[in-house]
Amino acid sequence: MRCCHADFAMTEGSDRGFTVGMPTFTFGAGVLAEAGENARDLGLERVGLFTDARLVHGEHVAAVRASLAASGVDVAVYDTVKIEPDDASFQDAARFAADGRFDGFVSVGGGSVMDTCKAANLYSSHPADFMAYVNAPIGEGRRVPGAVKPHIACPTTSGTGSETTGIAIFTLKALNAKTGIISRKLIPSVALVDPDVTRSLPSTAVAATGFDCMSHALESITARAFPRRLNPAKGLARPVSQGANAFSDMLASQSLRLVGQFLERAVRDASDTEARSEMMYAAMLSGIAFNAAGCHLPHGLSYAVSGLTEHWHVPGYPEGATLVPHGMAVVLNNPSVWRHTSRASPERHLHCAHSLGADTRDLEPDDGGEALASRVIALMRATGMPNGLAALGFDESHLDALATGAEPQYRVIRNAPVDIGRDEIRSLFRGAMKYW
Ligand SMILES: NC(=O)c1ccc[n+]([C@@H]2O[C@H](COP(=O)([O-])OP(=O)(O)OC[C@H]3O[C@@H](n4cnc5c(N)ncnc54)[C@H](O)[C@@H]3O)[C@@H](O)[C@H]2O)c1
Ligand SMILES: [Fe+2]
Repeated sequence: MRCCHADFAMTEGSDRGFTVGMPTFTFGAGVLAEAGENARDLGLERVGLFTDARLVHGEHVAAVRASLAASGVDVAVYDTVKIEPDDASFQDAARFAADGRFDGFVSVGGGSVMDTCKAANLYSSHPADFMAYVNAPIGEGRRVPGAVKPHIACPTTSGTGSETTGIAIFTLKALNAKTGIISRKLIPSVALVDPDVTRSLPSTAVAATGFDCMSHALESITARAFPRRLNPAKGLARPVSQGANAFSDMLASQSLRLVGQFLERAVRDASDTEARSEMMYAAMLSGIAFNAAGCHLPHGLSYAVSGLTEHWHVPGYPEGATLVPHGMAVVLNNPSVWRHTSRASPERHLHCAHSLGADTRDLEPDDGGEALASRVIALMRATGMPNGLAALGFDESHLDALATGAEPQYRVIRNAPVDIGRDEIRSLFRGAMKYW
């Protein structure tokens, strides 16, 4: 990428380094069967296995349990993980982890399961008031004081990349806002990324999680570059996510190429093993990238959307309560954001559009924002995404509530390449109402 080195030019006061954390990962068809030998290698004799109510009776949990049993590892199962977890569900899981006297953990599920397992591991390893480790300013933002127990993460969706990150996201019910706990110590010890799990994924989940993966990559590449990070902490105090850097660029660019090539096919046809496997790989690449670079506006704005939507249900997701899948809430803001942020780094936006498969041959860097927005819109249309926030029931009268809902997200919003205030947030939401 021609633009990299200039983008990462140092100035006085720049942090001179960036830190990338990741687990030891194994990628490949059938690798869930390696859970037992990995547990043994980590010295585990008794593990808490986290999953959700739908997956617990399925083949993926069965494969992991069989492998653990074959290696003589004792297992207690927690299957009441809440899809889109909240503070109460995290704390319930933490009680299970503390009561079980485990020497390690295994998670088999999507982001909801893996994040719940990370939180349960943390609070059972280093007990504290719940808000102690939650990101400041919502929580105390206390540093995790030491290592947590080993965690083998087995993702069953192709999007969050949570198997590679030190991030656990939940909804704080008192604020109706999503926030998280972030520490390099929460990165799973081992990730077993088995693309075979995607065969059973409903197409709606392939689409939503695929856009989560896409947005992780786009936000990594377009984030404020690490030498211009606003939080100056360095050394071991350096935050997990530090802004765009050359390593994240490389992984995120490759992830975008895969999303551009395979997302539509993966959504359309559950038997398209190649497409679904490539999306699983893309999700893992994006996870490593955004863990180090950080997300910004699309994620920051998404939490207000998912928190304020009143009636919404997507087939393939749990019935009952309103639920906007995370990746769907994230993609709805994408095109509006790229039209606004491209002026900060037009070449990077053009590079993203090209990587995602747009024909950029006759375009100039200044066309980058529109080219990227158009390519994302084309992918949304091809995969059955709603046509903007209006489809979820929002209109002009909700702009204030949406802007207020995004305010707790200033930690990620500050990672955007341009300065953003309340007026800009309102206009970004306005621009996301309807795309076609
Ligand atoms: N920690 C991170 O780094 C990170 C990153 C992005 C998102 N997240 C969080 O992850 C959560 C979303 O996770 P998700 O999108 O992976 O989905 P999910 O874990 O919420 O699961 C969605 C649905 O898919 C089902 N499902 C999962 N795997 C399946 C399979 N193989 N076959 C059939 N059904 C399956 C689940 O049972 C559930 O009903 C959100 O809370 C989001 O904020 C975390
Ligand atoms: Fe995400």
